[in-house]
Amino acid sequence: MAGTFEGKVALVTGAASGIGRAAAIRFAEEGARVFCADLNLAGAEAVAAGIGKGASAVQVDVASYASNQAMVDAVMANAGQLDVAFLNAGFYGAAEGLDTVDEALFDRLVAINLKGAFNGIKAVQAVIATGGAVVVTASAAGIVGHPANPAYSAAKHGVVGLVKSCVDAFAARGARINALCPGGVETPLIGAPDVAIVPAADLPRVPARGMGRAQHVAEVALWLSSPAAGFITGQAQVLDAGLLSTFAPVMLPVGP
Ligand SMILES: NC(=O)c1ccc[n+]([C@@H]2O[C@H](COP(=O)([O-])OP(=O)(O)OC[C@H]3O[C@@H](n4cnc5c(N)ncnc54)[C@H](O)[C@@H]3O)[C@@H](O)[C@H]2O)c1
Repeated sequence: MAGTFEGKVALVTGAASGIGRAAAIRFAEEGARVFCADLNLAGAEAVAAGIGKGASAVQVDVASYASNQAMVDAVMANAGQLDVAFLNAGFYGAAEGLDTVDEALFDRLVAINLKGAFNGIKAVQAVIATGGAVVVTASAAGIVGHPANPAYSAAKHGVVGLVKSCVDAFAARGARINALCPGGVETPLIGAPDVAIVPAADLPRVPARGMGRAQHVAEVALWLSSPAAGFITGQAQVLDAGLLSTFAPVMLPVGP
């Protein structure tokens, strides 16, 4: 039986690890020819080799527009089409709060997470196929503040605004663009092991406000990229086991 993405070409950034790796595997399982893009070329090559099925690796530094353009050029030169772009590469760092984050770290978090999204969106917009879809990984920290890492939160808020602002440009090509806003996900980004695909029975077993797995995010990226989500564009889809669904359970003491 043909998969949802049979005959389609999917580009995944941040594909060497975590959410991107899980998504690359799942897009390929559903029939897509997958381009695994990452700063970590060896990691992307290992993921592509594990997938087989015509998957290949391409190096990209999403913080550079020229590098994003070269990545998209490589996809078009090799595959001749681009149907799905999952722009997912990101960087969290050591979670510096306002007291310790400095200008250099702020610039790095913005360069990778926000400018990286802008660069990828701009590079794929010129070639995305009619009926195509772009999904950009923001964060639940792009919806509410994150005192543990305000620069990251600011960058991810920017990603949400950017995605909403690009709806018309993609609609003009017959394509869609949405953001994903995951809550906590067990990946190397936060020091967890890199587990891509989990037993199917584990997917529904997340306690309220619990941590998700890379595959949880991958599955939503697949669905948002599929024809079943054809009515959805310009959205910031939260997937967080209800983390943002209620007020914080404990009120903080009033300051001095
Ligand atoms: N893990 C979480 O709790 C969580 C929650 C919300 C959002 N996110 C977002 O999900 C996305 C994927 O994160 P993950 O948890 O899978 O992390 P991860 O660290 O497992 O994977 C991130 C990948 O991005 C790549 N990368 C980093 N900088 C890059 C650059 N400049 N150019 C190209 N590739 C680069 C890394 O090499 C790595 O392979 C990120 O955008 C992250 O901000 C993660």
